[in-house]
Amino acid sequence: MQKPEKNFILTIDGPSGAGKSTVSKKIAARLNLSYIDTGAMYRCVAWAAREAGLDVTCESSLQTLLQNLKIRFQASNENNLVFCNEHEVTSAIRSPEIDALASAVSSVACVRKALLPLQRAAAQYNPAIIDGRDAGTVIFPHADLKIYLDADLATRAKRRFAEQKLNTENAEIDLKSVTEAIANRDQADSSRSEAPLRKAEDAIFVDTANLDIEGVSQLIIDLYKARFNG
Ligand code: DC
Repeated sequence: MQKPEKNFILTIDGPSGAGKSTVSKKIAARLNLSYIDTGAMYRCVAWAAREAGLDVTCESSLQTLLQNLKIRFQASNENNLVFCNEHEVTSAIRSPEIDALASAVSSVACVRKALLPLQRAAAQYNPAIIDGRDAGTVIFPHADLKIYLDADLATRAKRRFAEQKLNTENAEIDLKSVTEAIANRDQADSSRSEAPLRKAEDAIFVDTANLDIEGVSQLIIDLYKARFNG
């Protein structure tokens, strides 16, 4: 079958806390690829819906919101900055509240339909890494290299807990509630009818539980080199 994508596409899918975004940013920098964080797009929809006081399960309200929604990424040395309707929301979209709202909006059909062309367009001109839940199954089913990262729930919860401690001032955060929230999101993300989280048949499974960030990144870079440099 003819490949529809012009550029080299590397997809990295998996559940929360598997290490996708940290590893993707590192590999993107090392291989000079664009980094497309599709989860941040769902987080922006959730953030904008909350700002507008909308019910995130109401398809018609979200439909109206989506018509005027502008999401923009800006590469910076330190971080990938995220802008939603020209507000800089890089940290604001990482709160536990947005975690839950993003999971809810991501199961709404009109939201997925609106974000899909933006996700594909983002990789139109540059070779890219796409991090998500359906990057290798729906967004780029013909990707050149597909990776599926996973780790046991306890490991992923510990990572997310440490990340949230760093990113938020919220003293209420505790490991037990982070573990429960991740388990709930796993369940919601993998059981929804629209583009559920699952490993593409041709994706390479990597268990990250006993690997550090450098180990996972190097493993993927080696796979990339083996496949494309002979
Ligand atoms: O990767 P993340 O935690 O930033 O993703 C936020 C939410 O968006 C998460 O609940 C899953 C959902 N998501 C999705 O449904 N499809 C994607 N391609 C990326 C994220």
